[in-house]
Amino acid sequence: MALVVRWRYLLLLCSRRKRNAMIQTDHLGEFKAPVLLCGGVYGNLQALDALLAEAARRSIPESRIIHTGDVIAYCGDPEACAGRLRGAGILAIKGNVEEQIGRNALDCACGFDEGSMCQTMAVEWYAFANSEVSGDTRQWCARLPDHLTFAMSGRTFKVVHGSVDQVNRFMFASLEDDVFQSELAIAGTDAVIAGHTGLPFTRHFGRQIWHNTGALGLPANDGTPRVWFSVLTPMIHGVRFEHVALDYDHRGAAQAMRRNNLSPAYADTLESGVWPSLDILPSAEKQRVGQKIETRSTVWINAPRTAA
Ligand SMILES: [Fe+2]
Repeated sequence: MALVVRWRYLLLLCSRRKRNAMIQTDHLGEFKAPVLLCGGVYGNLQALDALLAEAARRSIPESRIIHTGDVIAYCGDPEACAGRLRGAGILAIKGNVEEQIGRNALDCACGFDEGSMCQTMAVEWYAFANSEVSGDTRQWCARLPDHLTFAMSGRTFKVVHGSVDQVNRFMFASLEDDVFQSELAIAGTDAVIAGHTGLPFTRHFGRQIWHNTGALGLPANDGTPRVWFSVLTPMIHGVRFEHVALDYDHRGAAQAMRRNNLSPAYADTLESGVWPSLDILPSAEKQRVGQKIETRSTVWINAPRTAA
């Protein structure tokens, strides 16, 4: 009996922990000019258009914009967003949604708990998105790499969606240090750029960094409709990480959801800035719901490597 229970537990773990089987990594070389990082467009065309306008204002071309996955999800324009990202030549990796769309799967494999509100609502938005995407978009999703690597100011970076070896793992800022440190060891780079959780943060671990851009398609649960992206800027003695909040036509995005009869809960979120469910959040992140996040930047100073 104990053996049966253990097997069931293992099967449950396997279904939740969607590990990358064969990881495809594309190498981008070195960037000597600012790079714009974003993730989680989530089918929010108004936010994506605002981001592209902001990139142009900052003189950052599309060839220096990197998307960390999930261009398709909750919002009203999945096909238009995927087409815009593809057409602009933005550098992108697979999120769990691209992975599932690319293989004609019937669910988003987001990593939500069975029976949770997030899981229930994911059934609805994924079915809508899956019915909207074209064959070209589906093939594009399937061809995207899982990871990207690049260098800047003598430091190496790996771009992932969830964790380094699991596309749908939620790596929240409040997790223990050793969780991040073991992921950074697997990455084999000085920094990891991640997405999937929807909340922006940067954490330092000695000479290494874990950075999450937050999401472009949904607000950061801070009581404002702003969405988030990041800019990395090479400096003589290091790299500047800048978390940037973006104002955009959030009412237009909410209307697009309502026009398509998508969940009113997520449409309301675009306007209120608060998520409809806190299912996936650790207690530390739950305590900060509704507290406005300030834009901030941090400079990562190059330190000499310790001799082995
Ligand atoms: Fe995701």
